[in-house]
Amino acid sequence: MVDDIKKIAEKSGIVLSQEEALKVQKELKRWCKPSIRAEGEIIKTRDGSFTLISKEYGEPYHSVYAGAVRECYEKFLLPSGLIDKVKKNNKITIIDIGFGLGYNSVVAIHHLKNINPAMEIKIYGLDKTFPSKLPPMPEPYRNLHNKVWENRDALEREGILIKLIEGDIRNTIDSIKDKTDAIFHDPFSPFRNPEMWTIDLLREVTSKLKEDGIWVSYTSALCVRKALKILGFFVGESTPVGRKRGGTVCSPAKRLELGIQEERKLKLSPYAIPLKDKTLKTPPREILIRYFCEVIKIKGT
Ligand SMILES: C[S@@+](CC[C@H](N)C(=O)[O-])C[C@H]1O[C@@H](n2cnc3c(N)ncnc32)[C@H](O)[C@@H]1O
Repeated sequence: MVDDIKKIAEKSGIVLSQEEALKVQKELKRWCKPSIRAEGEIIKTRDGSFTLISKEYGEPYHSVYAGAVRECYEKFLLPSGLIDKVKKNNKITIIDIGFGLGYNSVVAIHHLKNINPAMEIKIYGLDKTFPSKLPPMPEPYRNLHNKVWENRDALEREGILIKLIEGDIRNTIDSIKDKTDAIFHDPFSPFRNPEMWTIDLLREVTSKLKEDGIWVSYTSALCVRKALKILGFFVGESTPVGRKRGGTVCSPAKRLELGIQEERKLKLSPYAIPLKDKTLKTPPREILIRYFCEVIKIKGT
């Protein structure tokens, strides 16, 4: 494995000593181990709603501690600014990245339609592969969730247009030509699903935002916050749910802010450098190795 790390580093023009390669290996082991070892594929989360476990990524589709539905409402819908926006607008567009079971979209549609029943909503749901198993959503979301998967024509008659786009987002994001009010960015975590969090992909994704649009994510990872800062966005933190640090939000024109402590971490931590994927084709493991090589070099100086 160490030789493999050295070879990948070399490809990016980084020369690693044996000691440095061992340190990179240690970082990979530390950050990339599975977060959960569940027996079954479907588990109950803290708010009583169910979610799926991904064996491939070693992670649940939703936070078990926060609760699946609670996470959608508090970590995505509330910080997105959409609740205020639908009070004044009759048309809303959302990109739901890592559409998964569709919970984020279902929770958003339900609450936004309650506020403004006349609202038309268009959602682009992007995922590498849509899940073959779907845990049932609790009330009051069940009927809507079933329609999202089984009867999108009926939803269209109610002014809800859902366009599902399957494939690696690095190949599909460009097919969206609309500017959107909100982007829910909900892949697995940055060190287990790195191709979804590179500065290069974030540049593409955020280029779809309207000036007052908001990109929302559950992560507080420094590599992501730093990338958004470098891209020139206002970056802020959403209210923490079930843990100490909140998620991340950013916008081209809405004035969002991180606290002093977070800004300090972004200046001083060796981990506060972006993940990179210039070609949007780099294998995920290479993205990570390159990142940790850079981290090790910074730590060593
Ligand atoms: C945490 S789950 C999403 C949960 C979902 N938002 C929900 O509410 O059910 C992460 C999703 O990201 C998707 N994903 C991972 N890598 C991807 C890629 N390269 N392109 C597109 N989707 C990807 C996975 O297939 C998975 O469905």
